Amino acid sequence: MKSIVSHLPDLPTLVTARLILRKMTLDDAEDMFAYASDQEVTKHVTWEPHITIEDSRAFLLDVLERYEKRLPANWGVELKATAQLVGTCGFMSWFSDHRRAEIGFALGHRYWGQGLMTEAVRQVIHWGFNECNLNRIEGECKPENVRSARVMEKCGMTLEGVLRQSVFAKGQYHDLRLYSILRQEWQCSDDVFSRKARH
Ligand SMILES: CC(C)(COP(=O)(O)OP(=O)(O)OC[C@H]1O[C@@H](n2cnc3c(N)ncnc32)[C@H](O)[C@@H]1OP(=O)(O)O)[C@@H](O)C(=O)NCCC(=O)NCCS
Repeated sequence: MKSIVSHLPDLPTLVTARLILRKMTLDDAEDMFAYASDQEVTKHVTWEPHITIEDSRAFLLDVLERYEKRLPANWGVELKATAQLVGTCGFMSWFSDHRRAEIGFALGHRYWGQGLMTEAVRQVIHWGFNECNLNRIEGECKPENVRSARVMEKCGMTLEGVLRQSVFAKGQYHDLRLYSILRQEWQCSDDVFSRKARH
């Protein structure tokens, strides 16, 4: 099926209870390096750990170019309490003609297990459906990446199946679990989400 990668709207700043999702800048290099150099964080992603801060700068330069060209890109995930960049969350692909997009995310190891990425991903899904008129949002993870799978489940996404040997990364092929949520499913859960956020 023909799919054209199309341009995203300009990424706005999104605010949750504990987080600010905002565009990244080169000033984030140090915070990014702190988590992106950690092999625990990069174990299940396709990108290699950052070896020096120059890797983080190069990564951020690519992100800035993506913002400029309106290509699929991540928000920086900033912790309100400390104003530190603790991770990224955003869109890996975006197909306007099909109103479909794919999300991706990563968080510093010391912040795991507090529900932070679930909070960020819910906000990104909310934006995608409510502000951008998407119809389907997908996410993929390696079968052994149980934390990532759990985040997507907690965001109301459904496991559709396994894409066998779907990516070649770090010297080998990897299966990927495919999760998705449709706009009509989100509208139901979003009512609950909005009610919770108000209280
Ligand atoms: C995936 C990731 C973003 C999760 O972030 P997080 O803020 O810790 O996620 P949350 O706290 O919202 O949820 C994690 C869930 O995994 C569960 N979990 C943690 N360890 C687990 C394990 N060994 N087995 C099963 N579930 C586990 C937690 O209990 C929690 O679920 P719960 O709220 O139902 O208890 C983070 O682990 C990360 O950055 N990993 C490295 C990068 C990565 O893999 N990105 C995704 C690529 S597809």
